Amino acid sequence: MDRITFKVNGIYYSVGSEVNTDVTLLDYLRRRLRLPGTKYMCLEAGCGACIVTAVRGPDTPPTAVNSCMVLVTSCQGWDITTVEGTGGRLAGYSKVQTTLAEHNGTQCGYCTPGWVMSMHSLFCSRKKLTMLEIEQSFGSNVCRCTGYRPILDAFKQFAIDAPDSKRITDIEDLHICQETKNGCNKTDCEDYDWCVVLKEEVDKSSCIYIKLEDGRDWFRVYALKEALKIISCKDNNSYILVGGNTAKGAYPIFDYPEVLIDITGISELKGFVLDQNLVLGAGSTLTETLDIFKLLSSEKDYFRYLEKLYDHIQMVAHNAVRNVCI
Ligand code: FES
Ligand code: FES
Repeated sequence: MDRITFKVNGIYYSVGSEVNTDVTLLDYLRRRLRLPGTKYMCLEAGCGACIVTAVRGPDTPPTAVNSCMVLVTSCQGWDITTVEGTGGRLAGYSKVQTTLAEHNGTQCGYCTPGWVMSMHSLFCSRKKLTMLEIEQSFGSNVCRCTGYRPILDAFKQFAIDAPDSKRITDIEDLHICQETKNGCNKTDCEDYDWCVVLKEEVDKSSCIYIKLEDGRDWFRVYALKEALKIISCKDNNSYILVGGNTAKGAYPIFDYPEVLIDITGISELKGFVLDQNLVLGAGSTLTETLDIFKLLSSEKDYFRYLEKLYDHIQMVAHNAVRNVCI
């Protein structure tokens, strides 16, 4: 295999040696696919204007991702939804979009697609959200002109603990059904897992190799031994391991090394094991780590201290970064 394949708004695309090392998902969406609804400003994971929803594997829920941080060659097997895919003038606006507008949550509108996709991702990832969870997710996006109160008022309508007089709809009505692409009236859908977990189209057993347009080598590996084999053949200074690529926001990369190895598909680096200690997989994202901390601190007395680490990590970056940062 020498190409990366992914879906955008339900359509398959692939990239290979025609792209350079530094082409981000944002570049690809806006310039190649002509989907300008996804905006950008900071290009360092700070403003949230570029957020899209991505299902990054068969066992992962939809999450918000800063497309300005993700290299397009990292998107193997991803199912990406942009703001154009959630609703629009011709197909009709989604509940998230209309609710935001009805609550005056937008003025110049530049930040609005990012807010919509941030909330869309959150709603797709969990069946029931509280007002606190919605408020805590607000670190992902910046709005310079509306002010946050109307946006917060709009999105809190979807919380299960919102006051009855303000409740608009349940999560299942938010156009998240993958089969019909419409609202769904079920309140306890048996098909929920099936509904959001999409069929993996890719043969995961084989490594992907692409000779990029600028001459650099891109590898997508699925086993630790594959990564080690590549590294062992290269000079120590000539490669970089690519996870979420979020460090680029703080430390811009002006010159990529010759070899880039995407390690996000290595399942051995995910999850955790317990002996007398907690041993975390080095490839776990911060979001996955938070889930592990939450689970263990509630189930095991001697891991109660993880509550403190959980609170601390929640202050690191924001949802869209934590979803991919390892
Ligand atoms: S452009 Fe600001 S977070 Fe991506
Ligand atoms: S509506 Fe103008 S920046 Fe948010």
